[in-house]
Amino acid sequence: MVSTKRKRKKFLNSNTPSEAYNVLDCNKLPSHVAIIMDGNGRWAKQRKLSRIEGHHKGAEAVRTVVRTSREIGIPFLTLYAFSTENWERPEKEVTALMVLLKHFLRSEQKEMVDNNIRLDAIGQIDRLPEDAREELHHTMMLTQKNTGMVLSLALSYGGRAEITKAVREIVDDVINQKIDADTISPELISGYLYTQKMPDPDLVIRTSGEMRISNFLLWQIAYSEIYITDTLWPDFSKDEFVDILKNYQLRERRFGRVFFQ
Ligand code: IPE
Ligand code: IPE
Ligand code: MG
Repeated sequence: MVSTKRKRKKFLNSNTPSEAYNVLDCNKLPSHVAIIMDGNGRWAKQRKLSRIEGHHKGAEAVRTVVRTSREIGIPFLTLYAFSTENWERPEKEVTALMVLLKHFLRSEQKEMVDNNIRLDAIGQIDRLPEDAREELHHTMMLTQKNTGMVLSLALSYGGRAEITKAVREIVDDVINQKIDADTISPELISGYLYTQKMPDPDLVIRTSGEMRISNFLLWQIAYSEIYITDTLWPDFSKDEFVDILKNYQLRERRFGRVFFQ
């Protein structure tokens, strides 16, 4: 039997140019990177392709970023794949995205299992079509014991919907005397969010140049570092990802405090 250690080594060797990550300080890696994967439609338009073809190409960039994160040793990676507002897109595009999700999960299951990646999902999962939801649950079940990295897909996710759900649950728990209203604190609120078991993102990356958050992790990004690149998501590469992590490592995170030199 091949040990997990040997498997991981193989994975590293087969995908990593030897010195690609030497530039990174392994003591200053972000614990949690969250990415707003934007620009698939514009990428396709530039090539006179359909938006759906842009989403297909975008799925390849997802694979690259997941592999790279795992190789580098980032513990939590969250990818914004579909927002609560994205349901308003044309039905044909929504359907294609859901089919793509199902196929993506199916094609990545083995790699996630082999490389010790645990799949998680945040958002209104019950709104997904049944087949996509089943594939998602199946993949989560297959990877549930993995400990190398948590890959969270934000699916039918919206920060406002998440906070609204948390407020409702807190009110219910106060009414049912499970908690005392006086104990409501930022930490307690965090514990009612989908992200309750994750640290807040250290770094949020948005591709395609838009200077906005688009309802992503509103509560959790209070002190995240933000990096916006003009690169359209399907063109997002391993090299650019490493460059962004290098940039992150040069930043001074102050959390509102003053640091005297
Ligand atoms: C991001 O690309 C993917 C999703 C939101 C599902 P877009 O589809 O938003 O691409 P643009 O912004 O139109 O280029
Ligand atoms: C944000 O992109 C949502 C995802 C990447 C899933 P959008 O393309 O939906 O955001 P807006 O419309 O530009 O704000
Ligand atoms: Mg967009």
